Amino acid sequence: MPIVVVGHVDHGKSTVVGRILADSGSLPDGKLAQVRELCARTSKPFEYAFLLDALKDERDQGITIDAARVFFTSARRAYVIIDAPGHVEFLKNMVTGASRAEAALLVIDAREGVQENSRRHATMLTMLGVRQMAVLVNKMDLVGWSQMVFDRICGEMRDFMARLHIQAAAFLPVSGREGANLVSRSGDMPWYEGPTVLDVLDGFVASPAPAAAAFRMAVQDVYRFTRFADDRRIVAGTVESGTLRVGDDVVFYPSGKRSRVRSLEGFHRPALAAAAAGEAAGFTLDPQIYTTRGEVAARAGEPPPHVTTRLRVNLFWLGHAPLVPHHDYVLRVGAARVPMRVERVEQVLDAATLATADRAEVARHEVADCVLTLGRPVAVDVHAEHAATGRFVIIDDYEIRGGGIVREALPDSDAAARQRVLVRNLKWEHSLIAPERREARFAQRPTLLFVTGERDHDRKGLAKALEEQLFAAGRNVYFLGMGNVLYGVDADLDRTGVHRQEHFRRLGEIANLMLDAGVLLLVSVAELGQDELDIVQISVPAERILTVWVGQPTPAGVACDLSWPDTTRASGAVDAVVALLRARDVIREAP
Ligand code: GTP
Ligand code: MG
Repeated sequence: MPIVVVGHVDHGKSTVVGRILADSGSLPDGKLAQVRELCARTSKPFEYAFLLDALKDERDQGITIDAARVFFTSARRAYVIIDAPGHVEFLKNMVTGASRAEAALLVIDAREGVQENSRRHATMLTMLGVRQMAVLVNKMDLVGWSQMVFDRICGEMRDFMARLHIQAAAFLPVSGREGANLVSRSGDMPWYEGPTVLDVLDGFVASPAPAAAAFRMAVQDVYRFTRFADDRRIVAGTVESGTLRVGDDVVFYPSGKRSRVRSLEGFHRPALAAAAAGEAAGFTLDPQIYTTRGEVAARAGEPPPHVTTRLRVNLFWLGHAPLVPHHDYVLRVGAARVPMRVERVEQVLDAATLATADRAEVARHEVADCVLTLGRPVAVDVHAEHAATGRFVIIDDYEIRGGGIVREALPDSDAAARQRVLVRNLKWEHSLIAPERREARFAQRPTLLFVTGERDHDRKGLAKALEEQLFAAGRNVYFLGMGNVLYGVDADLDRTGVHRQEHFRRLGEIANLMLDAGVLLLVSVAELGQDELDIVQISVPAERILTVWVGQPTPAGVACDLSWPDTTRASGAVDAVVALLRARDVIREAP
């Protein structure tokens, strides 16, 4: 059972954990003596907290700790104790799955009493759905084991927690240094008749095994077997919840692509029959399909995750600069990272005082109820239904600045179109030829290349010249003019603009077919806009699309992969695009 230890700096979190390890006989033989000796030799006063560091160094020898996780076993069950060094680490752990704390120990220094961070941590835990909490009033030896001090701190914390609508499982007077009331009862506080910390840990209720929940795995990586001449791909990640077995039908989201598990690969272990929650797993698929880091694997027939670009969330903000609308952030959920903006702040709450405010931005150490808009759809769960995959962090300037839980997946304007693509992928009939075999034959990755830009440049000429050169080099390439679609596939639509969205949806579907056929598809279109590209991206994964812009950039135009001033042969436009295709690994040297 994962337990997180939180509290203000220096209130004794690491000491409490170190002492619990020592007193419960969880340390390797001789460890305690060794650390004491080292302290004596370096004339440092001994600290139980040092045990944690000492164990860290031993990681490769059989191992009680990694990062800030300590493993130990009581008579009742096994624990992982997470000694979170600070807010950011804690949030990071909660979201990345390094820790999915089920309960918390909140440590408060008896001399210093309840501090802002004590209250903040309680708020943060509550928001993240950790509702089992015990309050440890530590360093009781420094206040003469005073019941009065203890009662005052408990009273204050009890009132605060009542406002969060939670109740502590217990309040305990302890001393990390003296080992009072941790594993065994203390003779110094006869007035205390409650449980020890170990009793309280054993009394926390384990939530239903995540194995019973629907299967979820965030795809971390897709790689090929390298040691054998093997075209299999392994889809790798950590199982967040549920169980996966060989032969199961899996669906990947957001794409909705479906396949079947052919084998489960154990890392440094023999192949497995099943992978369960918490395990790092890799599996191969049959038929082989294209999936990528950031997708979420679910089992067909189980409740799927939500796919959307709009989320109603509760978040905790840690950035020095406030969280504001109109600023670009990155949201990380599972293994996906997507551009994010704040659409609306509904309400903010000071995590230490619980004072509320109506404001359009969120300051440091505030909790907020917000609506977020994402640059790309992600697969998420609502925290209340599926805690493990309903958490996220917000990154600004490469640092984690906040995090929280998904309360609701809100509909967005593309929901209907996306649903159609999802169904299309679910129903997709796979041929016997795996995409890799087509890729290998033509030494290219199927890609949709838009040649776009200002109206008065010869985009078609450039696209055709490119097609000719690539074809001569043996590539599977095809030029598609917009007119070819407009008067054929789109003959039933008028060309006045009301059907613009449908024109681009159909173009996306045509591109999807041709990419499945292994083609490098060149499409010329005047002044492609971001909304148009967004529609195409519902049908074709963004990483399969490249854009080349010719002429001056225009305000309405898309951000492109290559910008070139003009299309004349002499300008070298064709060579520049070929260089882009090589740089992006779209075309490779023929084998
Ligand atoms: P950070 O990780 O820096 O936030 O600190 P922490 O909360 O882990 O505190 P740590 O365990 O490092 O203890 C801080 C100081 O308080 C150390 O000098 C400990 O020896 C001391 N300390 C911790 N618990 C007790 C206690 O029960 N009694 C006394 N007298 N000192 C204690
Ligand atoms: Mg510490």
